[in-house]
Amino acid sequence: MTTSLNLFSDIDQIFLNPHILSDEYIPNHLIGRDKEIREAVELFTDPIQNGSEGINAVFFGPSGSGKSVVINLVIREVRNECKRREINNFSIIYLKVRGLSNSFVLYKLILNLNPDTKIPERGLDEYEYKKELYRLLNAQRKSLVAVFDEIDQLSNDNIIYDLSRAGADRDVLEPQFINIIGLTNDLYYMDRMASKTLSSFRPRQIPFNAYIPGDLIAILEDRKAAFKPHVLDDGVIPLCAAVSAKDNGDARKALWLLSNAGKIARRENSVRVTEEHVDKAREYFDTDIIGVVLQKLPFNVRTLLYVICYECTHGNRTSSIKVWNRYQEYCSRETITPVSRSRVSQIITELRDLGFLRTRESPGRRGGIFREIEFIQQVDKVIESLNSNDHVLK
Ligand SMILES: Nc1ncnc2c1ncn2[C@@H]1O[C@H](COP(=O)(O)OP(=O)(O)OP(=O)(O)O)[C@@H](O)[C@H]1O
Ligand SMILES: [Mg+2]
Repeated sequence: MTTSLNLFSDIDQIFLNPHILSDEYIPNHLIGRDKEIREAVELFTDPIQNGSEGINAVFFGPSGSGKSVVINLVIREVRNECKRREINNFSIIYLKVRGLSNSFVLYKLILNLNPDTKIPERGLDEYEYKKELYRLLNAQRKSLVAVFDEIDQLSNDNIIYDLSRAGADRDVLEPQFINIIGLTNDLYYMDRMASKTLSSFRPRQIPFNAYIPGDLIAILEDRKAAFKPHVLDDGVIPLCAAVSAKDNGDARKALWLLSNAGKIARRENSVRVTEEHVDKAREYFDTDIIGVVLQKLPFNVRTLLYVICYECTHGNRTSSIKVWNRYQEYCSRETITPVSRSRVSQIITELRDLGFLRTRESPGRRGGIFREIEFIQQVDKVIESLNSNDHVLK
């Protein structure tokens, strides 16, 4: 017979529906974003009203300024409108492209158009994926609006260049078209784009400003249904808003603070959420988690991480071969005894499991396998933390 430990209390005294505070939740209306929503809707006006090409665009603005939630809300509305008008000659596909290769982005577009596709997930040339995508669009007589969230994280611009030229190059045949909408918080994204890409992409630029405290208060007030009635102290929402307003007006941070203040109150068996709980949530947010993890890593692991960081300062990517070469150079320069190649490979796996890297195996030119490495934390922050924690590493 098993006896229950009664670790979970039956009644949540704080939350009614915590999902309302999560990043995935799309509220029914958004605060202070009417203009941006109107501009986003305009991108789809021609496809809906005349079946003709829409407008390419880039939304840019700081983190938590509502870019993703605005486009997702507009996509939902456009899809409803298409259903209502029985329009089925264009597909909107939303993709978070961080960490995806161009071929995989194309594969995802193909899969969306044809869930039964026989095309393999990986292994083909980028060209083959493009060819299949165009073939499908022409065969299905469909147009495509591809929404690339975090567009600056694409490994290069080739896919933007190719897709935005597909009409002019007659890869997709009239009246079909491909539009691209990109979202980014990199204000210099467009400046770095190759001029040939820019001249065919020619996106409308839609800026998103940081929220002011009044907007943040309204955003949080609107999510009060996440909590049981009357559990929030009066000062809680204004405090969450004030803290986040100082930090770039980031709505995600404001929601995170409110949600975590609630969780802390629940953990303490409190029946109310107070400003003190917000302070505790803020302290937790401000803790340098990376710094704490780094301090605990053994010296060899920190050394290798340092080398990988430097390899990744431009473009966030490197390979196990480059890392091994650079590591040997570094050790000889700093008179450190290097660990073996197989230990380096193990450490790369450990760093991957700790959430610093993503890795993918690739066939080497002379047979054998190497690993492509992508750094998924902020490189400069990790270097800064390593430097402040470690006197040996300069
Ligand atoms: N105007 C708004 N009204 C209601 N909720 C909002 C509004 N703006 C943002 N939010 C909420 O704040 C959170 C962050 O917004 P969102 O993900 O859209 O930011 P973002 O600009 O895409 O940030 P990032 O650049 O980091 O991806 C989401 O949970 C979203 O629902
Ligand atoms: Mg976003």
